[in-house]
Amino acid sequence: VETEFEELYEANQFAKEFFIRNLMKTTEGKKAIEYLYKRGINDATIRNFELGYSPEQWDALVQYAIKQNFSLESLEKAGVVARREDGAYYDRFRGRVIFPIFSITGRTIAFGGRRLKDDENIPKYINSPETKVYTKGKVLYGLYQGKEAIRRKGYAILVEGYMDCISLFQAGIENVVASGGTALTEEQVRLISNYTNTIYFLYDADSAGAKAMMRGIDLMLAQGLDVYIVKLPEGEDPDSFIKKNPISEFNKLIENAVNFVEFKALTYQQLGKFDDPNVKVKAIRSLVESISKIPDELKRNVFIREISSKYKIPERLLVNEVESIILRAR
Ligand code: GTP
Ligand code: MN
Ligand code: MN
Ligand code: MN
Ligand code: MN
Repeated sequence: VETEFEELYEANQFAKEFFIRNLMKTTEGKKAIEYLYKRGINDATIRNFELGYSPEQWDALVQYAIKQNFSLESLEKAGVVARREDGAYYDRFRGRVIFPIFSITGRTIAFGGRRLKDDENIPKYINSPETKVYTKGKVLYGLYQGKEAIRRKGYAILVEGYMDCISLFQAGIENVVASGGTALTEEQVRLISNYTNTIYFLYDADSAGAKAMMRGIDLMLAQGLDVYIVKLPEGEDPDSFIKKNPISEFNKLIENAVNFVEFKALTYQQLGKFDDPNVKVKAIRSLVESISKIPDELKRNVFIREISSKYKIPERLLVNEVESIILRAR
């Protein structure tokens, strides 16, 4: 088994070096560098995150592997090349900026690739398939680079995208990790909890981002974490925000982050008709649901008190609701 993992690490390493060389040393790679510069990414960030470029060809990596006598079978196992029905190998990533994904110990285990042009006919991002060394839901992009800062600062900022992660990092906000578009998983939350008990949730300010945060909050509470939700101006993501604003504005967003009670209240308010008792009931139910996930009784009671005063609901009633949910879940 050891050697099988080793084979995949080596294949990913081989592919990464190929992608980096293509970004740095080829004429075609200049397009990708220009693209990154245009998006405000500098050389230090390119080096730090080992960004690369996959040429716009069906078999650039395949041909390079043949020339270097590197096993195509291994590259296929790593998911960086695939095979057609007739047996011919072809590159998975073509004409894309490459974001290597690292394990916690810094080994390359997969890639994300972004298209250069805004061509709606191809997906904006593609990823390596899952392999023996890469399970999507068990990895956080940027954790390898950000873990020291997360420990030092005492909290992690959780964003959606690769670009969000590297842009914040470049701006000096190094305690950042990205979930990478997939729905946040319990394993990902557990990974963060190895470094800190406090998460600042900073997804895109659109309806998809808000929905994903609504779901993610309960996962974090269930792991005993403290969660704060950061509110970006509508339509922005962390990358676009940090490009337009000084760091002091970003720090203000962090300072003004809200707890889950306030966040859910605001979300239901935005659905409108908050004076409608039925909407209010929904909001309270959703809050009670979240609170029932919290393992610590003291913490549960503090938040119950908060809801009780906010919505003018007797504490006893809320406690009963929470306890009956907990009993049902057992
Ligand atoms: P930029 O447009 O480069 O700034 O990317 P973004 O991170 O802002 O993209 P978006 O907010 O749309 O998506 C967030 C994350 O979801 C991305 O970083 C990707 O990890 C993932 N994602 C987005 N679009 C796709 C897609 O078409 N396919 C896949 N597999 N993942 C995607
Ligand atoms: Mn999208
Ligand atoms: Mn988004
Ligand atoms: Mn985004
Ligand atoms: Mn973006």
